[in-house]
Amino acid sequence: MSDPYQPGGPYRGQKFFAEPDIWGFVRRSFTKSMGYTDEDLKKPVIGICNTFSELNKCHSHFRELTEWVKRGVWQAGGTPMEFPTISLGEPYVRPTTMLLRNLAAMDTEEMIRAHPLAGVVLIGGCDKMVPAQLMAAVSANVPAIVLTGGPMLSGRVEGQSVGACTDCYRFNLEHLAGNITDAQLSEAENGIVRSDGHCQVMGTASTMASIAEALGMTLPGCAAIPAPDSRRRHMAERTGKQIVELVRQGIKPTDIITPKSLDNAIRVTMASGGSTNAIIHLIAIAGRLGYRIKLEQFDELASATPFLLNVRPSGKYLMEEYFEAGGVPALMKVLEPLLHTDCLTVTGRTVAENLADVAIPSGDVIFPLDRPLQPQGGVAVLRGNLAPNGALIKQTAVSPHLRRHRGRAVVFNSPADLDARIHDPALEVDEHSVLVLMNAGLKGAPGMPEIGQIPIPQKLLVRGIRDMVRISDARISGTSYGALIVHVAPEAAVGGPLALVEDGDEIELDIDTRKLELHVNSVELEGRRSRWVAPPPAYTRGYGLLFLESVLQADEGCDFDFLLPQELRGETPIGIRKGATTG
Ligand code: FES
Repeated sequence: MSDPYQPGGPYRGQKFFAEPDIWGFVRRSFTKSMGYTDEDLKKPVIGICNTFSELNKCHSHFRELTEWVKRGVWQAGGTPMEFPTISLGEPYVRPTTMLLRNLAAMDTEEMIRAHPLAGVVLIGGCDKMVPAQLMAAVSANVPAIVLTGGPMLSGRVEGQSVGACTDCYRFNLEHLAGNITDAQLSEAENGIVRSDGHCQVMGTASTMASIAEALGMTLPGCAAIPAPDSRRRHMAERTGKQIVELVRQGIKPTDIITPKSLDNAIRVTMASGGSTNAIIHLIAIAGRLGYRIKLEQFDELASATPFLLNVRPSGKYLMEEYFEAGGVPALMKVLEPLLHTDCLTVTGRTVAENLADVAIPSGDVIFPLDRPLQPQGGVAVLRGNLAPNGALIKQTAVSPHLRRHRGRAVVFNSPADLDARIHDPALEVDEHSVLVLMNAGLKGAPGMPEIGQIPIPQKLLVRGIRDMVRISDARISGTSYGALIVHVAPEAAVGGPLALVEDGDEIELDIDTRKLELHVNSVELEGRRSRWVAPPPAYTRGYGLLFLESVLQADEGCDFDFLLPQELRGETPIGIRKGATTG
């Protein structure tokens, strides 16, 4: 589709306010009423996507950040114009923000596409917003820079540094086990989130901020600056200046996000012990380019990328210490021999040029390549008859004794069934059991919520058990830890083998050989399949129905089929749905 704002001049939208006809009159008249002058309207218009919302704590400071971006835009000779989009805050959205990530991507893309913006600054932070904005940036392909909001300051509880939400789980687990009091839990609640910003561990938000930086879509150093730190304001102002420069140079997202820069982002994710959610988002971002990343590619790069970053949930420190150790530029400096350093970035320079003056870090936050925390990166891709299209495990967060495990399944056939029975004293379970949750995926739950951190049954908690093998077609928060096998594909609700597991079946996990096997003979499995009945659809109208009809499975990035470019969709046009008319 042609872009109505593509230049007849050096930048997009240049003629919008200059038309001599009635429409030029109306546009100038309406816009000048807001205080813009004729001079302002002759400059490139820079859209600033401000996703502030009081329903999104992680974006609580975005009004102020936006003002600093505007200051930079004005200084560089552009005209800033702020606009909103949908804003998704993890703790607030039901059933899950993942249901709405693609809606956020569509909203952002269409806002860029529909307005005469020469360039855009996308301000995001909480888990789904940065991936949605990157997906939109690729599809709209207008010069763009991402400005992430930054992590919170380290939480402080009883003199200890704590991080949301890795320690949220820990506090609640210990409370359930009777090891901390109500008053202590309340103290923890007050101390763990003590400033603006997103979660301050290497959860999904910090992982996606690191990915945006590793891709070259933020200015170097952006990801780890704490949200309240004055240097984030400086970063916002510099971002405002740089987007105007990017417009002048005509550099677009597809010049920056390429198969090679995606490789760099995967390496940084693996070296950081980043979130399993990043796998889904990277596949979706690549898909917008028409490029399919297979799960094996993550596994190959993970196997060839040491785990270096000592930040929770897989390490000891928090994002504040990562920032002080040099942040993503310092990690990329260590990883430089493994990176494609000729990739272009929003600085207008290559990764190699950006890293030229970066010092190799010392200390124990970022480990050297030849002395890593672990020889392999964070995420392992498992295969087997239980997950023919793959499943993920964050191996850096698994208790060592569970890396190889064989145990009997205790099955929960839905999230509601899990809630009802997991802490039942009569549940037949021990520490060797394998907890299995089905119908918690994209179509089953729906939306593939972050409930893959299946709770340890209370009767085992009080005995000191803190980790078990747990399997689901759900996702987990990037802040989770434990032997959690997630993203099982295909999901149970579309008839994946996970749907066929029954109590007492033997399941084998071997992370080193990437094996996930259900030890039930094929005749028995076929019999179960013939009796299997799909659960009823969760939605019969509206956006939910569009989601159910269009969403791709986890190994394909969970994007909507019709949002992929034609080359990834094959010959058949998508978009004319059952029962819809062509108008
Ligand atoms: Fe927004 Fe954790 S809740 S990043």
